[in-house]
Amino acid sequence: MNRKGNVYVSRLLPHPVMEKLKEICDFEVNAEPRPATREELLRGVRGRDAVLCLLNDRIDAEVFDAAGPQCRLFANYGVGYNNIDVPEARKRGVWVTNTPDVLNDATADMAWALLFAAARRVAEGDRLMRSGTFSWQPEFMLGADITGRTLGVVGAGRIGRNFALKSRGFGMKVLYSGRRPSPEFEAETGGRFAALDELLRDSDFVSIHVPLTPETHHLIGERELGLMKPSAILINTSRGPVVDEKALARALEARTIRGAGLDVFENEPNPEPGLKALDNVVMTPHIGSATVETRTNMGLVVVRNIAAALEGREPPNLVRG
Ligand code: DGY
Repeated sequence: MNRKGNVYVSRLLPHPVMEKLKEICDFEVNAEPRPATREELLRGVRGRDAVLCLLNDRIDAEVFDAAGPQCRLFANYGVGYNNIDVPEARKRGVWVTNTPDVLNDATADMAWALLFAAARRVAEGDRLMRSGTFSWQPEFMLGADITGRTLGVVGAGRIGRNFALKSRGFGMKVLYSGRRPSPEFEAETGGRFAALDELLRDSDFVSIHVPLTPETHHLIGERELGLMKPSAILINTSRGPVVDEKALARALEARTIRGAGLDVFENEPNPEPGLKALDNVVMTPHIGSATVETRTNMGLVVVRNIAAALEGREPPNLVRG
């Protein structure tokens, strides 16, 4: 009888995903309501054929060593894979996969949720309603118009494109920046390619949709924030370290930009302490892809990748870069 592959799962996934996983492999799962500790991870991966990991598991040479040479795949539950040393994996002939596409809508929707919340002061209003009362006045809690304004999309990948496309209903002018102009982006969204500096100067809303790489670390720092309009709002649903969070807190406090909506942070789970005291920032706990449907679909993508690797086939969502 064929032996089923043996997999380490670093965190419990939605029930339908765990059920599917049972069909294709034997596994041990970290069922704690917290990430696996480093020790648990190193112990857990030992001798496995594949590992299902999450964005808060640092997968590096030490983990590959612990897993052993028979381990074919590290399947990340997420589209971002900055937690994995991909060059090291490639050197060892270990496959790395991610979960692209299935979370485009949910993550783009979340960027819109933050944009609306920041522009129309939704969280601030909610706090006010819970703590006291209000008296309606013509200049009470004024926010920023969205319809017809200029949207700057930093990163022209799948999520950035999806986000930009959704602006059509609001009649917005779209600028986008990236490594190079993208004919698909332009055809789909009507956006115009701009250098990052131009985008920052001209946009009313700037939303970040780039992966975290050495090149994008602190892509938005003090200088870049200084280019933005004092009325502009910054949204980040990509990875925290793309923005210099200390510089952002200073800009928000000094009101050199109007506001920010953040779903990701430099040192998760803790935002820069200065941010917590500010009313002009809306923060959510890295929930861009957190819908019932999307988190399940992400899991099903991971299962397909693991199934392929266990059968010796190249997994469909191989990370090459
Ligand atoms: C990702 O997929 O990279 C998100 O950050 C988590 O869904």
